[in-house]
Amino acid sequence: MTVSSAPGKVYIFGEHAVVYGEPAIPCAIERRATVSVEARDDDHVRVSASDLSLDGFTVEYAGSTDDRPDVDVPASLVEAAMGYIDAAVEQARDAADRPDAGFDITVESEIPLGAGLGSSAAVTVAGIDAATRELGQPLPPEEVADRAYRAEAEVQNGQASRADTFCSAVGGAVRVEGDDCRSIEAPDLPIVIGFDGGAGDTGELVAGVRALKEQYSFADDTLATIGDIVRTGERLLDPDPDDPEAEIPVEDRIAEVGQLMNFNHGLLESLGVSSRSLDSMVWAAREAGAHGAKLTGAGGGGCIAALDPTPETLTALRFTPGCEEAFRAELTTDGVRRLE
Ligand code: MEV
Repeated sequence: MTVSSAPGKVYIFGEHAVVYGEPAIPCAIERRATVSVEARDDDHVRVSASDLSLDGFTVEYAGSTDDRPDVDVPASLVEAAMGYIDAAVEQARDAADRPDAGFDITVESEIPLGAGLGSSAAVTVAGIDAATRELGQPLPPEEVADRAYRAEAEVQNGQASRADTFCSAVGGAVRVEGDDCRSIEAPDLPIVIGFDGGAGDTGELVAGVRALKEQYSFADDTLATIGDIVRTGERLLDPDPDDPEAEIPVEDRIAEVGQLMNFNHGLLESLGVSSRSLDSMVWAAREAGAHGAKLTGAGGGGCIAALDPTPETLTALRFTPGCEEAFRAELTTDGVRRLE
């Protein structure tokens, strides 16, 4: 058996616009998905995923998605999770040139599903890593990232960026613009997460932004402005020694990153991907004195990320109607890794 784990992430800036070639900066956080894979003698795939929802589920099927049996768990949950696991299995079979390889797969995750913390990328990345190792074909993290991107794009009807999967595979803070993916040095950001207990459907939300863009050409300006925010923000996070930003004390740079996160949230809201509970958590964080706050990931429900070095935002979020859970997110430089 092979066990691999991969981290979730928060977007400091740039989700949605990154799908249209603008840059984005996600950071990996110390909440991980762990996938155990054991090769089988036949071509069946058996998946147990007790942590992906409170109910949990176990499914066994042969070969492809079409052969899946009906199971007594919410269809949307099975579709979402199984779609990514299926696509990860196909990528591992392809990488190892073993189209008939069968697996027993167990998924455990500390990352809520569809909540903007990169659960699907972490499961896909850890799944490809574990399955390829199990088949004796380990891949470098960059190739795991590339295959996980292709798997996500397939599940999301071709509409995905490389940001989530690259961040989960290599860890740390990363900058992604089109096919150009690289690590950046970010200061230790005081990130607080608020979670409304809900989830958004990434495919639907990405399609909603596309529809808005097709209806109103000026939505392009909104996406381009998000790109400008990212370009300004990255000089605060990781200034070149020659940049004037390098002279600014790090606490002040972090405070300005928060201001830009507020700006970014407003634009995401205008693109229709926020929600009442996400907005009320953002406002609770701002009123508690956070440097700034924004939704993270696809939106529609799920999580916000705020920057606050004090305990105030954490306390305020815990008393905010609509917020189910609030916690501090430790950034991690550990990307995908083998555990056993
Ligand atoms: C989802 O976590 C982030 C989006 O930008 C989609 C993507 O980048 O694939 C909304």
